[in-house]
Amino acid sequence: MIDVRVLHKTQFVSPEELPCLVLPLFDEPLSAFSSLIERADASTLERLCERDVISSKAQEVYLLPTPLSRLRNVLLLGLGNREKFNAEILRRAAGKACALLEKNRIGAVVFDASLESNFPLHAFVEAAVLGQYSYDRYKSQDQSQPPKVALREITILCDVSADVAGLRRRCEQVLIACDSANWARDLASMPPNDLTPTRLAELAKEMAKQGHLSCEIIDEDHMAKLGMNAILGVARGSEQRANLMVLRYESPGAKRTLAVVGKGVTFDTGGISIKPSESMHEMKYDMSGAAAVLGAMRAIAALKPAINIIALAPAVENMPGANAQRPGDIVKAYNGKTIEVLNTDAEGRLVLADALAYAVDKFKPDCIVDLATLTGACVTALGHYAAGVTATDDALYEALCRASDVSGERIWRLPLWEDYDKLIEGTHADLANIGPRGEAGSIIGGCFLKHFVGDTPWAHLDIAGAAWGGKNISYLRDKDASGFGVRLLTQWILDQAEAPV
Ligand code: BES
Ligand code: ZN
Ligand code: ZN
Repeated sequence: MIDVRVLHKTQFVSPEELPCLVLPLFDEPLSAFSSLIERADASTLERLCERDVISSKAQEVYLLPTPLSRLRNVLLLGLGNREKFNAEILRRAAGKACALLEKNRIGAVVFDASLESNFPLHAFVEAAVLGQYSYDRYKSQDQSQPPKVALREITILCDVSADVAGLRRRCEQVLIACDSANWARDLASMPPNDLTPTRLAELAKEMAKQGHLSCEIIDEDHMAKLGMNAILGVARGSEQRANLMVLRYESPGAKRTLAVVGKGVTFDTGGISIKPSESMHEMKYDMSGAAAVLGAMRAIAALKPAINIIALAPAVENMPGANAQRPGDIVKAYNGKTIEVLNTDAEGRLVLADALAYAVDKFKPDCIVDLATLTGACVTALGHYAAGVTATDDALYEALCRASDVSGERIWRLPLWEDYDKLIEGTHADLANIGPRGEAGSIIGGCFLKHFVGDTPWAHLDIAGAAWGGKNISYLRDKDASGFGVRLLTQWILDQAEAPV
């Protein structure tokens, strides 16, 4: 973990040598420069800015060596127009900055934000933790390259009027949330031959043990007794045994309980309705919903908010084995509703059906949120830059929006008009698991799930696009899973613990 210090400017004792000073740069005439810069360096920088060699455009970043002073480098973070500035702009500029620091093998920085008030300093820390992540566990070490120098020390200097204790707490929170997001990214990227449903449950158990969370793994026999035939139907085609993970965080005296549910399909071939082979390998990420709720629980275990949380994640592999479920099969879910499985590739909603119905029946949460890589249609609608949301409760959606504004993980609501309900009426069962081809695919997914949450306020986040595949988000490497949802859920839970809405 990165060591982050937050200090009032006056508390900072400058060391003999300062490897790098980071400065924010807005699109406005420079009125003052950090007092940590020596006069000669400051005037050089001023000239470079005046001559537009250095631009203050958002996300333009410069690393300038200042070899004649005890300060070795200055890193300027272009943040653009002050009116348009927000935490995401800082996060993206900082993501670029961290890449520059890595290239230049700089392991410690001092970020002087003492001339700014109300500055979202935590966003710099987030970008540093998320931006240094890459999934290389399965790669052999390149012996010809020197080992990387990681950014391990961030000292943040703030204005004397700033609430240092509050800023420190905020930085600690984001360190934990981002570390857990990286943990979830590891899970999501693990190859599906290693990350089987059983292995996923073992890793969840290990995490729960470390965080002192309770963890129950419901196996196939138990699921059969409980009537979770929708999960079992999906599991039939695989040699791997399915399970349902149930993790609990309890805060003594807390009155409210929130439930989070994540789709944990460790690999989705489509089953008998098999997928084209071209991008099938990406279906190892089909457990990103489960990774997100487990990651959030990991963060919650460390942050200890005053609220109860239940996390459920059905883990299953969708394979076309000889015993696989067929298109046309009818299964009865935990809540007694019958489902005509017209397409075995729409398996996410089947596994969530049982998990959601069980969660509301058994734990009676005040509200429930699920995350799932549910539909390709969501990627068509929003690309990789937002999760699609269907929700039965406006206040819940708005609370999620507030958390999303803070975390920078975007969400976008889709409607649940009654007209869509008609489209998934079953011919020989209560429900069909798909609607008409090419029509409102992501909404139909949400519409189906709505049948399994009863009256509990509910929101479904389709993270099919957001879980991986985003490009040019500087603090997330293009090729890695994003860990989408961990920070958003953590923030939402912290908010709920503070002021329930
Ligand atoms: N896991 C997929 C959804 C998916 C596709 C996520 C591409 C990310 C990228 C899901 O199980 C699925 O296959 N859904 C089907 C539903 C359809 C049959 C109604 C889909 O989107 O094609
Ligand atoms: Zn599928
Ligand atoms: Zn799937």
